[in-house]
Amino acid sequence: MENLRRTFPGTPPVEVLRGVGFTVRAGEIVGLLGVNGAGKTTLLKILSTLLLPSAGKAGVCGIDLAGHGHEARRHFSVVFGGDRGLYPRLSALDNIMFFGGLSGPRRNLRTRALAALAEVGLAERARSRVETFSKGMRQRLHLAVGLLNQPCLLMLDEPTIGLDLMEAERVRDTVARLARAGTAVVLTSHYPTDIDRLAGRVVLLDSGTVTHDLPIAEFRRQAGFTAEVRLSGPGVAPQDAAALLTDASVRIDQHEEGWKITFQVGAWDATVLSRLTEVVRRHPVADFDVASPGVEAVLRRLALNHG
Ligand SMILES: Nc1ncnc2c1ncn2[C@@H]1O[C@H](COP(=O)(O)OP(=O)(O)O)[C@@H](O)[C@H]1O
Ligand SMILES: [Mg+2]
Repeated sequence: MENLRRTFPGTPPVEVLRGVGFTVRAGEIVGLLGVNGAGKTTLLKILSTLLLPSAGKAGVCGIDLAGHGHEARRHFSVVFGGDRGLYPRLSALDNIMFFGGLSGPRRNLRTRALAALAEVGLAERARSRVETFSKGMRQRLHLAVGLLNQPCLLMLDEPTIGLDLMEAERVRDTVARLARAGTAVVLTSHYPTDIDRLAGRVVLLDSGTVTHDLPIAEFRRQAGFTAEVRLSGPGVAPQDAAALLTDASVRIDQHEEGWKITFQVGAWDATVLSRLTEVVRRHPVADFDVASPGVEAVLRRLALNHG
């Protein structure tokens, strides 16, 4: 993508994309992030030729979308989240054959449909009616439709929306496997977990421009801390802990069952460790947990900077 722009008509016109450009390579999963209204779906619609850009250009597998949309469509797929757009009274196989036949070549359709169903773990349910499927199975069926053309680029807009934990995990497993096999993936999600588990790179959209385009490890470093430490114990919260840890990030929560202290470590050094030891020495600590910052921590920090 190069300098993609999109303005929607209105008074005044709405400038949704203001010059967006980045590259997605084979086998790479790029997490496309941004608050609601940032322009993620608009971008995916342009990349999947459902919408024309006002300016700029984009290509898939070396094929320019402008003027070659039809040819380009053979090489990518786009899957939008949610479980609409399937025929509930038809079987999974009939659904995929129907949608596959609409949008692509019919050659070997049945064989390819069965292979795609196997790819998303629905081989055994190929002949079951979709009305008997869970949300997660329906989402995987959408994914299977997207796999029929063996795309080199797969675009997923909120693929785990509305799914329970296990269902979301299965969708993520499938996406990870496809990327390992060489498919380029662009993924948007409201769930930081999707990005943390899958993305090798993060592109952050803000008001229609790319503010960050970083490898995931570097993106996580934007959180501004190395680790978040959580301590908890029974009884009354140790009021001296905040003073001991002498860090602005210390938060002490008192619950009925006991207390919890959360604080962020900028860098591990002897001072931090000895202060921690001091807290543990003075108070009964039942649980101790150290976590690296995830995508959510970065987004929270960036949102704070904004405000
Ligand atoms: N067809 C349209 N006409 C006018 N405004 C639109 C249209 N489609 C999207 N928008 C606006 O563009 C902005 C970005 O929307 P969208 O791309 O859906 O963002 P996201 O997916 O990041 O939440 C929103 O403010 C939305 O209201
Ligand atoms: Mg969207």
